[in-house]
Formats: sequence, C-alpha cells, structure tokens
Amino acid sequence: MEVTLRPVTPEYLDAALRVEQAAMQKNCYLSDAYEYFLTTEGELTGAFAGGELVGIGKLTVLWDGSGWLETLRVTPEWQRKGVGTAIYRRYMEQAAQLRCPYLRMYTGAKNVASAALARRFGLETAMLFREYTLPASPGQADGAGFAPVPAAQAEELLSPWSERYNGYLVMNRTFYRFNGATCRGLAQNGRVWRHEASGTVVVAGARFQSDKGLHIALLEGDRSCGLAFAQLLARQRGAGRLVCNFALENPELEAFVRQNGFTVAGGDLMTMEVRL
Ligand SMILES: CC(C)(COP(=O)(O)OP(=O)(O)OC[C@H]1O[C@@H](n2cnc3c(N)ncnc32)[C@H](O)[C@@H]1OP(=O)(O)O)[C@@H](O)C(=O)NCCC(=O)NCCS
Repeated sequence: MEVTLRPVTPEYLDAALRVEQAAMQKNCYLSDAYEYFLTTEGELTGAFAGGELVGIGKLTVLWDGSGWLETLRVTPEWQRKGVGTAIYRRYMEQAAQLRCPYLRMYTGAKNVASAALARRFGLETAMLFREYTLPASPGQADGAGFAPVPAAQAEELLSPWSERYNGYLVMNRTFYRFNGATCRGLAQNGRVWRHEASGTVVVAGARFQSDKGLHIALLEGDRSCGLAFAQLLARQRGAGRLVCNFALENPELEAFVRQNGFTVAGGDLMTMEVRL
C-alpha cells in the first residue's frame, strides 16, 4: 500500500499518541512535547497508509542549524514495510530545504532496526552515552551566589570543557554538539549558571517536560556545590529527578555521579550522524 506523508496536525495528535504507545510502550513523551514541537523549525511528519496514521517522525533544527531526528515510531503491524524509510526520505528533503549541515539522532545502543535504517541514509555511529538519574531530594541549599550566565559570555566560559564532554551537551536525550551556537542557545534559555566565588559552572534545565526531570548537561568546579544547586532547581521546578547523560569516556564525572547516589537508568545510548 502506498504511504503518504504530511504534517501531524492537532486533529491527528491522538492517532500519533497511539502510534507512539504501540511502538514504544515506555518512554512516551509526545503528549507533553507536541505543543513545544509546533514552536520549532522542522516538521512532525505523519506517514499515512489508506488514511490511517501508521508512523511519525520529527526533524528539529537545533541552535547550530543541524537537524535533530527524533520521535521516529512506526506501528508494529506496519514495521518492515518501508514506512521508516519514507519518513527518512522526508527528513533528507527537509534537511536540504533547511540547509542543515549535519543530521543527527540517538538510539539505544542495541536498537538494530533504528541503526540499520539510519545507516541506509548515510548516518554513522558517533559516540556512546550512559544516562544516570537521582530522585530530587528535599535538601537545604539556598542557591546563593549562583547567577545565570549571559549568552554573550557562554561560549568563552564553557568551551574549555568541550573535550572533557566529548563534544556534546545533553538534555532530554537531545545530544547537542558542543559549539558556540549551542552554548549561546543554552544561556539564552537560562540554562547556564555560574557560582563566581567557587568557579562552579552548571548547565541544567529541560528542553521539554520540565516537571519530569532536571537535566544536568555540565557540572564543573565544585561539583558538590553544583549538584546541591541542581537539586534546588529541581525542587523549584517540581522536577521529580535529576538526569545526567554523558559520553562514556568521562570517568571523572561518572565516578562523581555514582558516589552521589545516581544510578544507571537503562541501556546505553548511541548517537549517529551524517555530514551533508
Ligand atoms: C526503527 C523503526 C522506526 C523502523 O521503521 P520501519 O518502518 O520498520 O523501517 P523500514 O521498513 O523502512 O526498514 C528499512 C530498513 O531498516 C532496517 N530494519 C528495519 N527494521 C529492522 C529490524 N527489525 N532488524 C534489522 N533491520 C531492520 C532494514 O535494513 C530495513 O530494510 P529491509 O526491510 O529492506 O531489510 C521501527 O522499527 C520502530 O518504530 N521501532 C520502534 C521505535 C524505535 O525504535 N524508534 C527508533 C528510535 S528510538
């Protein structure tokens, strides 16, 4: 049967949520992210077969102009019938129209289907990641001394840590490349914080679902002081947990989060990318 593609308009949101639920069981977030997706550049594409929505996929243009491929789901009965391929073709079309210099995505390190599909369109494995979480705690930190960093200062402040973070800053499993545009974007959105006296820097916040998790993308300087501040931000935002997702080759940060009670949330993740 022929598959046609068009944007998922609000009247198809319920159908899209059913596709997501059927394809994923857990890790469903579209109901929370849909409104936000409408504010971003890049389409939430629906794949229709005989009038029925059977697949979805979002392309989002990130601050550095690269295309981020997310929320790709195909209803199980429709898998392995070319629906994912059709959505990828639409990704490639959009990437050309929007002049994205790169396309990137992440998937589970063991997700054979997703990786094989991405490889067909030239994406190659870039980096492995591990996600740690910690329940938010009712601590006493007051956050005194932490101030948001202005966008104009963010690149200079953060760039010395680019290598330690293997060139990525991660929030809501969005693997932003560590570059000037990303640093400025994060700061513009109030997610870069500095404690002048101790030289502590925290990049933390949420791209969406701010009530579900506070994502720590960078923690440097006095890490204990930074973590206490992140706990405070989580409490203020009603986020039930802290999430820290970073490239596996960051043993120092990994040791720190383990010592502070974070536990591994699930299987490792990997990014894939293609330069266009
Ligand atoms: C990953 C997913 C989107 C693929 O969609 P799809 O419509 O089944 O993909 P296609 O039919 O277009 O497959 C294209 C190619 O991808 C590869 N592929 C797809 N499913 C595969 C599988 N289960 N095992 C191995 N390779 C697979 C094959 O190379 C396939 O070509 P072929 O059928 O000619 O061998 C779908 O399996 C899915 O929704 N999975 C659950 C959600 C998910 O994992 N999303 C990915 C990101 S988290």
